[in-house]
Amino acid sequence: MPEPRHFITFMDLNLTEHRRLLERAIELKARRAHGCYRTDHLGGRPVIMMFSKNSTRTRVSFESAITELGGHAIVINMGDSQWTRGEPLSHTARVLSRYVSGIVIRHTKEEELVELARWSSVPVINALTDESHPCQVLGDLMTVAERLGGVGALDNMSVCWIGDGGNMLNTWLQAAHLYGFHLAFACPEGYFPDSGILSRASANNPRVRACKTVEEAARGADVVTTDVFASMGFESEREKRLRDFQGYQVNAELMKLAKPGAVFLHCLPAHPGEEVTDEVIESPASVVWDEAENRLHVQKALLEHLIPAL
Ligand code: CP
Ligand code: NVA
Repeated sequence: MPEPRHFITFMDLNLTEHRRLLERAIELKARRAHGCYRTDHLGGRPVIMMFSKNSTRTRVSFESAITELGGHAIVINMGDSQWTRGEPLSHTARVLSRYVSGIVIRHTKEEELVELARWSSVPVINALTDESHPCQVLGDLMTVAERLGGVGALDNMSVCWIGDGGNMLNTWLQAAHLYGFHLAFACPEGYFPDSGILSRASANNPRVRACKTVEEAARGADVVTTDVFASMGFESEREKRLRDFQGYQVNAELMKLAKPGAVFLHCLPAHPGEEVTDEVIESPASVVWDEAENRLHVQKALLEHLIPAL
């Protein structure tokens, strides 16, 4: 059996594959808009989705994607599985591989996904870890491509990131590393992205820039994006983070510094009034609902790519 392809970090696909995947997602979206929802790519094969953290979009968009590709989604809360009672990952991976054609997993530690993948004979897909959220950035790039005039426009766009250097910024850095676009980010002291991901992205792409102020990061941007101050698993730091992130809000004043026609992205869920104002979320610049929808289309394209047709 050929080695499975995994999608644990954004870098697990090369740039050609990323571009093709976005083109395919755009095509699948257009077909669906004409009533063509269903293909039989998965041919009834099951895919398991395992969660050790909450989810709305990822859970529902993946389950819909699997259904629309003619497969069957099995969803389990990891707390109900033997994993959390200490069954070795090497055992779990080999057992699941005998039942399903893919493993979609949301979990804290990315290294455990890597270990799972080492033993799995079916593709493992990262549905968010503390380190990265590659499926989200696929959806984000598709949304920007729709607005900026196609996938080719991504190479030279300017992205502004404001706020926490967590899983979302780490993944934007990996995307900038691969695509070569401008990425200016402003994070409070002590909330910088992963140093390894940042240094590799900066070494490969001189357009990656850490900014001292949010204004500097936003000036001339095509895309302005942010995330909650306290991600899942960091709730106990919420009060401290609310203090440390003062001034790191995307509001109408900040959006004025971006290019005319710039778009606002947020992976959601948002905390309106904290990292972004309600006014910006509800403004014409905001594409957050398309961004959420596009998770479905990019994940269909991803599943097609990683799980070959029968
Ligand atoms: N954006 C995102 O992954 O949302 P959920 O946490 O609802 O899945
Ligand atoms: N950074 C957020 C993203 C949620 C989709 C979190 O990890 O909670």
